[in-house]
Amino acid sequence: MQSLDDFAAGKLRELDRRNLHRVLATTDRLDGVFVERQYGQQRKRLISFCCNDYLGLSQHPAIKAAATAAIARHGIGSGASRLVTGNHPLFAELERRLARLKGSQAACVFGSGYLANAGIIPALIGPADLVLIDELSHACLWTGARLSRSTVLPFRHGDAAQVEALLGSHRGHHPRALIATDGVFSMDGDLAPLPQLAELAKRFDAWLMTDDAHGLGVIGGGRGSTFAFSSRLDVPLQMGTLSKAIGGYGGYLCASDPVIDLIHNRARTFVYATGLPPAMVAAAIAALDLIERDPGYAALPLMKAKTFTRLAGLPEAQSPIVPLIIGEAEAALAASRQLEAEGFLVTAIRPPTVPAGTARLRFTFTAIHPDSEIERLAALVRKVVPQSVESVAP
Ligand SMILES: Cc1ncc(COP(=O)(O)O)c(C=O)c1O
Repeated sequence: MQSLDDFAAGKLRELDRRNLHRVLATTDRLDGVFVERQYGQQRKRLISFCCNDYLGLSQHPAIKAAATAAIARHGIGSGASRLVTGNHPLFAELERRLARLKGSQAACVFGSGYLANAGIIPALIGPADLVLIDELSHACLWTGARLSRSTVLPFRHGDAAQVEALLGSHRGHHPRALIATDGVFSMDGDLAPLPQLAELAKRFDAWLMTDDAHGLGVIGGGRGSTFAFSSRLDVPLQMGTLSKAIGGYGGYLCASDPVIDLIHNRARTFVYATGLPPAMVAAAIAALDLIERDPGYAALPLMKAKTFTRLAGLPEAQSPIVPLIIGEAEAALAASRQLEAEGFLVTAIRPPTVPAGTARLRFTFTAIHPDSEIERLAALVRKVVPQSVESVAP
C-alpha cells in the first residue's frame, strides 16, 4: 500500500539522517567467539567482543548433546501454551534447578526474557499502584512497567537516595509498590545498589524486582547479582534470561510458591504463549549443571573484563560488560568500523538503546576469549578510540 510504504520510507530517511538506521548483518558464529561476517560477496573472520554468550555455552558439546537428545525424545516445539498441552516434563526439572540456584521456593520459565518482563509486572501491579524504575533499566522492564498502567516514576541511575525520597512522598498514595531495576546493567556493566534498595523495599513495604539477565552465570559465584554482595539479600522477584550465560533462549522468574502460582494464572505472556521448545529447556538444565559444578569457570568473564580495563586504562570492570562512551552515533560507528578493520567485532550501541549523546562501544568478555586477543584489543582501543572521540569534539 503506497501510503504505508511512504510512511516507512520517511521514517527511515529520518533515521539515516541521524545515523540511527540499523541494518541486519549476516554473521555466522563459528564457535563461542569467532564469527564470519558477510560483506557483499566477501566473508571476513572476526573475533566478537559484543556477544552475551559469556561462558561460551551456546557451542558447548555437552549442551548441544542435551538439546539434541531432547529433540529426539520430545520433538521440536511445545505444541501449545504450557497450561494446555505444552508443559513437557523437562520444565519441572529446570524450574527446580533455577529456584535452587537463586534460593527461591519456586520458578517459572517463560518463552523469553522480554516476554517474562512484559508479563510479570502487569500480573502483580495494577493501575492504582506505583512502580519506581531505574532510568537505565532494560527496555523490557520498561515495557512491563508501562503495561501495568500503574504510576511509573523513573529514578536516577543507581540513586538509592532518590528512591528513598520518592517512596517517602508517594508510597502512602498507592496500595502496592514495586522497585524495578536491572541487577547488572546491560549497556553500562555496573551493578544496582541492591543492599540499599532491599533495605528500602523492606522499610516501605515495596517489592524489589531485579532483571538479572547479565548476572546469572557470571556474578555472585554464578548465582547472580543477589549473591554478589557481602550479605545475602532479600530480592523476592528475581527475573532473568536463558539467552546470555546459559547460551540458549528463554526467560524465568524465581519467587515464592504463591507468586509463581499467581504468575501461572495471571501473566498474559505465560498463559497465552506457547511453551519454550524442549531442546532449549534441556540445554538450560545442562548449562546449570556446568555452572554449579564449576564456579571458577563462571568467574572467568569478569576476570577477563578486568584484564581488559586495566590494559586499556578504563575504570575497573564490575561485570563482563565494559562500556566506552563516545558521544555521537556517527563517532561510535566510526570507532566500531576501525576495530572491525583490525578483525574485532564490537558493534556501536546507539540511541534509543542508550540515552542521546552517549553512543558507545560495548565490549563483552567471555570465559573463552584468548588473553592474547584481549591484549591486542586493549592496545588498539588505547590507540584508536581517543582519535574517534576527538573527531567529534566541538
Ligand atoms: C537486561 C536484559 N533484560 C532482558 C533482556 C531480554 O531477554 P531475551 O533476549 O531473553 O528476550 C535482555 C536482552 O536481550 C537484557 O539485556
